[in-house]
Amino acid sequence: MKGFKMPDGFLWGGATAANQCEGGWNMDGRGLANVDVVPFGKDRLPVVLGKLKMFDCDDAHTYPSHTAVDMYHNYKEDIALFAEMGFTCYRLSIAWTRIFPNGDDAVPNEAGLAFYDNIFDECRKHAIEPLVTLCHFDAPMHLIRKFGGWRDRKMTDCFERYCRTVFERYKNKVKYWLTFNEINMILHAPFMGAGLYFTPDDNEELIKYTAAHHELVASAKAVKLAHEMIPDSRIGCMLAAGQNYPYTCKPQDVWAALEADRKNWFFIDVQSRGAYPAYALNLFKRKDIRIPFEPEDEKILREGTVDFISFSYYFTNVAADAESPAERGGNGIFETIKNPYLKTSDWGWQIDPQGLRITMNNLYDRYQKPLFIVENGLGTADTVPSDGPIRDDYRIEYMRSHILEMEKAVLEDGIPLLGYTMWGPLDIVSASTGEMKKRYGLIYVDKDDNGKGSLARSPKKSFYWYKAVIQSNGEIL
Ligand code: BG6
Repeated sequence: MKGFKMPDGFLWGGATAANQCEGGWNMDGRGLANVDVVPFGKDRLPVVLGKLKMFDCDDAHTYPSHTAVDMYHNYKEDIALFAEMGFTCYRLSIAWTRIFPNGDDAVPNEAGLAFYDNIFDECRKHAIEPLVTLCHFDAPMHLIRKFGGWRDRKMTDCFERYCRTVFERYKNKVKYWLTFNEINMILHAPFMGAGLYFTPDDNEELIKYTAAHHELVASAKAVKLAHEMIPDSRIGCMLAAGQNYPYTCKPQDVWAALEADRKNWFFIDVQSRGAYPAYALNLFKRKDIRIPFEPEDEKILREGTVDFISFSYYFTNVAADAESPAERGGNGIFETIKNPYLKTSDWGWQIDPQGLRITMNNLYDRYQKPLFIVENGLGTADTVPSDGPIRDDYRIEYMRSHILEMEKAVLEDGIPLLGYTMWGPLDIVSASTGEMKKRYGLIYVDKDDNGKGSLARSPKKSFYWYKAVIQSNGEIL
C-alpha cells in the first residue's frame, strides 16, 4: 500500500523497557525493584494496584522480569537485528537499580553503568539514536520499604542523584531523554507506577496525587538538569494517551469525556506548561486533596518544562455520565465502555487507527510542542508455522493503519513529529499481565508463559514489512 514520505530526519524504530526485556535481575550488583516483586498469575493485578503487599519474592510465585528475554546477554544480537530493519532510533530504559541498587547508595554501581555504556556504543555502531527513559515503572524496593515509594518527597532527591549520575556518564552518548514513562499510570497502577501500597484506612486519592506531585517535581528537576548538563539534549514527558470519546452527544457524556481526558492531560499540562491547571486546583480543593506544595515548587515546575511531548498509543476509550446506561467493563486497570464502531484485540483493547490522528491533533493543539510516538503496536498471540517466518499479517495491518493516520497527521495536519518507535520490536514480557503470550514483536522470541524456550530470535513477516516502511521513509506501507 502507498503511504506518504515522512520529512527527512524522521526517527523510526522500536521501544522496550528494562524490566520487560533485560532479565539478569540480580546480576552484577543490580538491586531489587518494585517491578521484580510483581508476580505472574492471579496475584499480579492486586500487587500492581497496591492492594496486596508483596515486598519480596517467594517460592510460591514466578516473576517474569527476573529472566525476561535475557537481553542482558543478547543485546548485541538484538541491536544488530534492529539495525537490519533499518532502525534509526531505539527507545530503552535504564534500570534505576542497576545504577543505584538500593536507591540511596553512596556510590553508583560501576557494572550497571558499564552495561548501558555497552548498549549505547552498540547503538552508535549501527547509527541508531538512543532515546532513554529514566524511569519506566521501576523504583528501588529499598526506597519503597523506607519511604513508602513516591508518596515521600525524599524520593525526588534520590531520583535527582540518579539522573545527575546518568547524565554525567552518558552526556556524549545520549541526546534524547524521557523522564517518567506513562506518568498518568500512577492513578491506575500505583504500585507498579510509583511503589504505592495502600492500607484500608489510606486516602488513596490523596496519596496518588501526592506521589504524582513528587514525580512532577522530580521530572521538572530532571529536565532542568539535562538542559544544564547536556546543552544539546532534548528531554520529554511521556503520556499513556488515547482520546476519550463521549458515549453519546448528550452534554453530560461530553462532559464525562472531557473530565476523563483532563485526568490524563493534568500531568502533561504541568510538565509542558509548568504550572498546575485551574481545573485541577479546583478539583483538589473541592475534594479536599491537599497537595504538599513546597515554597520552591512553583519555580521548579516553571523552570522544568519539557521540550517535546511523547506518548504511547494503543486504543481510545469511551466515557459516559455516571447515570448513563452504558455497560462498563475493563481489565481491572482501566474501565472501558465498548465502542460499537471499533474492533477489539484478543486482550480487549479497542483498535482505533484514526483515534491516533485525533489524539495527535488534540495534543498538538494543546501544547504546541513537537510530538513523539514512543509506543504503539498490537499485543497478540502468534502461531509458529512448520516452515518459514510467522505470518503475522494482523500485526502488519494494525501498524500499517496506524502509521497511515500518523502520516496524515504530519503531512495533512502539519503536526511536527520527531519519530515513531513501535512497542516491543522483539517479543518481551507484557507489563499488565506478565505474559509472554501477548506478543508485540517483529522478532519472535522462543519463550512461553512457563519460562520454557530456547530464547532464539527469529524475524516474523512483519520484520520485513517494517524494514521496507523504514527504507522508504514511510512511503511503502
Ligand atoms: C505501556 C507500557 O503501558 O504499554 C509498556 O509503557 C507496556 O511497559 C505496553 O508493555 C503494552 O502493555 P502490555 O500490558 O500489553 O505489555
